[in-house]
Amino acid sequence: MALVIRNGEIVNAGTRAQGDIFVENETITRIGKHLEAPPNTEIIDATGKLVFPGFIDPHVHIYLPFMATFAKDTHETGSIAALVGGTTTYIEMCCPNRNDDALEGYQLWKSKAEGKSACDYAFHMSVTKFVKETESQLRQIVADGTASFKIFLAYKNFFGVDDGEMFQTLELAKRLGVIVTAHCENAELVARLQQKLVAEGKTGPEWHEPSRPESVEAEGTGRFATFLENTGATGYVVHLSCEKALGAALGAKSRGVKISVESVLPHFLLDKTYAERPGVEGMKHVMSPPLRSKHNQAVLWNALGQGSIDTVGTDHCPFDTEQKLLGRDTFVNIPNGIPGIEDRVNLLYTYGVKRGRLDLDRFVDAASTRAAKLFGLYPRKGTIAVGSDADLVVYDPNYRGMVSVKTQHANNDYNGFEGMEIEGRPSVVTVRGKVQVRDGKFVGERGWGKLLKREPCHF
Ligand code: URP
Ligand code: ZN
Ligand code: ZN
Repeated sequence: MALVIRNGEIVNAGTRAQGDIFVENETITRIGKHLEAPPNTEIIDATGKLVFPGFIDPHVHIYLPFMATFAKDTHETGSIAALVGGTTTYIEMCCPNRNDDALEGYQLWKSKAEGKSACDYAFHMSVTKFVKETESQLRQIVADGTASFKIFLAYKNFFGVDDGEMFQTLELAKRLGVIVTAHCENAELVARLQQKLVAEGKTGPEWHEPSRPESVEAEGTGRFATFLENTGATGYVVHLSCEKALGAALGAKSRGVKISVESVLPHFLLDKTYAERPGVEGMKHVMSPPLRSKHNQAVLWNALGQGSIDTVGTDHCPFDTEQKLLGRDTFVNIPNGIPGIEDRVNLLYTYGVKRGRLDLDRFVDAASTRAAKLFGLYPRKGTIAVGSDADLVVYDPNYRGMVSVKTQHANNDYNGFEGMEIEGRPSVVTVRGKVQVRDGKFVGERGWGKLLKREPCHF
């Protein structure tokens, strides 16, 4: 059935106009004022509302075997949570570990999502070792439409690659025109500092941050940038958390290194005192890179406002209370991760746009358009334009509410942002023209989501 969204303020990164959007066959076919709609067209009145392109979360974990357990969401729960929060596409990290076969891992990750996700999705393919068959396997994966890689400089002996493997991955990526995303922390330093702290009896969650200090992240970021510089590859730093690491990334960029920066929701809104809370409350706020001292938040907001932080993701990675307690004896065993897939857009709108830290253009760019451009999804995604997929978020800026575990759709028994007020939320969310959310409720079709095939675009 055709659909028209009437009289909203249509906000793209860079343009704004009052008008109507007409949707047929999953696609935006007309944009204008007072568009005529044939009988049987569904009409959504967006008077007084903002209409955004569907938001894109470039960094989520749904299926993830990690730290002796599994992340809690499935594509059913994760995608519904994403949609209720206005995210219509997410890019999941496909993370086989060093002992797994990359191609088998890729098929496994695909099978977990297929027919289950209610929103569209894609993968970043993690390269967790570089052996004889890696090049041909990665070529097959890119040919299958997964045109971005992920490397971890952290998580020694599990996901982590050494410098030689990083070099090989970047050289291949350069030849294939594929962007490489990277978790940048020095694995050796983390391992040594963890051992030292534990030997001193410092085992609570408050010691997680001192085991991975800002200098350790800055070193990883600088090293990644140096490898990009010397291979000519294009890179993207994931979940950058602090001023020192930002300095390393931006310094490289000013030398002409092709590097972009993502920061994630927790680092804008939560500081390290959350992980210093006693017992399991602290454990719930353990992620890597860790929550930092508060002064970093102002630095991140400022860089985001100016566009030197390119994107905001979530690094959604849910572990429940019982799983977090795997680290009751030592912080080294606390499953790392904080969920946020459902809350990113509303919290970014409230604490970014409404608090004057972000203008609306930059908000749309950081939460949708720039990820679409970097990861080969634009202009199919990330913009409201004739010919683009009809992924639309009709946003009510007058809604007032609060983040709470009691109302969330993600599969977890807590919410790391509990109690934070929100000033706005999606009233209608469409994915390729299908209404998936109305007034905070999922009303759509499970399994509607498609795997998005992407072409390499970084030659
Ligand atoms: O703590 C985190 N970030 N957990 C998920 C894995 C990763 O490093 O992205
Ligand atoms: Zn990471
Ligand atoms: Zn992650």
